[in-house]
Amino acid sequence: MKKNPYIIAPSILSADFARLGEEIDQVLLAGADWIHVDVMDNHFVPNLTMGPFIVKCLRDYGITAPLDVHLMIDPIESMIEPFAKAGADYLTFHTEATKNPRDIIQRIRDHGCKVGIAYNPPASIDNLEALIQDIDMVLIMSVHAGFGGQSFIPETLEKVRQAAKLIKKSGKNIRLEIDGGINRDTILCAAEAGADTFVMGSAIFGSADYTKTLREMRNILKY
Ligand code: DX5
Ligand code: ZN
Repeated sequence: MKKNPYIIAPSILSADFARLGEEIDQVLLAGADWIHVDVMDNHFVPNLTMGPFIVKCLRDYGITAPLDVHLMIDPIESMIEPFAKAGADYLTFHTEATKNPRDIIQRIRDHGCKVGIAYNPPASIDNLEALIQDIDMVLIMSVHAGFGGQSFIPETLEKVRQAAKLIKKSGKNIRLEIDGGINRDTILCAAEAGADTFVMGSAIFGSADYTKTLREMRNILKY
């Protein structure tokens, strides 16, 4: 049994960046578990967001919650050390962005971070079984990586189910994260498919009362 059955990780992509520290304080006070940081490079995905500097600023500001850094970048290698040094806890990368996922996994570990591997909606999870013993988290994208505020793609739930089976079979304590379009209408089916870690951007930061929104999600999850 996992120590914490459900994790909610607000994605700061939808936060008000002019007041980022305050926004994160509020969402943590409202009961968020982790903070999800979406790193986009205008190459792997057609959008440009934040680098290690933001992660360092958040640590310097005093954020101690786990920082769940989602790397939507290609190449990946040169960014591992800067994000680890800046204070990332999880570094999750897309295996589509590398020919050597094992090498990336090892480098992330060598820098003291937990390892996640991510799959976009069209990506198959065929390589998951071979990599599963070396990772801490699987991230199934339920929208195409690149932007917040998109609609949930229900077909991706099948991949969540398959990943859940492989995780169970591995016997390892691996988190199964889902990212994209998670809200009051989609969180339960994601949980029923086996997801235990929920990234939420627009549904939290676009709501008027973060505490109320997070409480509603926990009520739906019955946790
Ligand atoms: C999309 C990002 C997501 C996104 C989620 O590429 O990986 O984390 O910010 O935002 P919502 O919850 O609005 O779909
Ligand atoms: Zn993300």
